[in-house]
Amino acid sequence: MSAVIIDGKKVAQDIREKLKKEIEELKGKGIQPGLAVVLVGENPASKKYVASKEKTCGEVGIKSLSYKMPETISQQELIKLIDDLNANPEVHGILVQLPLPKGLDSKEVMNRISPLKDVDGFGPDSLGKLVLDEPGFVPCTPHGAMKMLEAYGINPSGKHAVVVGRSIIVGKPLALLLLRQNATVTICHSRTPDLKAECLRADILCAAVGKAKMITGDMVKPGAAVIDIGINVTPEGKIVGDVDFDAAREHAGYITPVPGGAGPMTIAMLMYNTVLSAKMAAGLPLNM
Ligand code: GUN
Repeated sequence: MSAVIIDGKKVAQDIREKLKKEIEELKGKGIQPGLAVVLVGENPASKKYVASKEKTCGEVGIKSLSYKMPETISQQELIKLIDDLNANPEVHGILVQLPLPKGLDSKEVMNRISPLKDVDGFGPDSLGKLVLDEPGFVPCTPHGAMKMLEAYGINPSGKHAVVVGRSIIVGKPLALLLLRQNATVTICHSRTPDLKAECLRADILCAAVGKAKMITGDMVKPGAAVIDIGINVTPEGKIVGDVDFDAAREHAGYITPVPGGAGPMTIAMLMYNTVLSAKMAAGLPLNM
């Protein structure tokens, strides 16, 4: 069997098209969604991600406000910037690209972002709402993974979902989202004794560890949907996921590629959260 390839690029494009129309309507009401993107230092991967986020803002019609700060910025100055952005009515979302350079306390910075502008969904208010099943900003990467399943008609209800990885940014929120949709969820991590046996039980297998090709073909149950959320650079400079794609696709029913799967979806969901925030700020109904 060769799996259906889940085209994250196409699903993301469809979401961007919908948002573009919605933003046009908002502009007609005098509302311009705005996203502040804060980049500290010169990390090459972060620079690339930030450029991609700013470009997508331009494409969909979100005003992007760019703050490129030197790595010598003090914690106090960075906190002051966040406070200014929290108070700026043009800004509906604040994204501080992680990781921050050594010496800066990223937890304090992220927690300083107003819960009303936490479009990354990483703050305690957003994550608390996720646990409580209340509406709020959902972290973009796991939200994107759920949208890919939805776009391909894969309903988690009654299925066994296995999430490999327990990060606050991806693994834990993804497990909660799958649970919300009535999957039976197992979370695996570095201390899981028999990872292969756990993965082989998965109807939906999500890999979010950051270790190239750690999910091999023989860990995939025949017909499973495989969502690869890893982004790893090989010694040859190639971008690969956490799943051995060529081997896994022979077993899976559906599989996301890397690149072209979770990556474009993350940015699309960041745009979605920014529009959601602008609508909330204007007191408009949230029919999204
Ligand atoms: N660094 C890598 N991915 C992300 C992300 O989704 N948001 C932020 N703020 N930083 C990141």
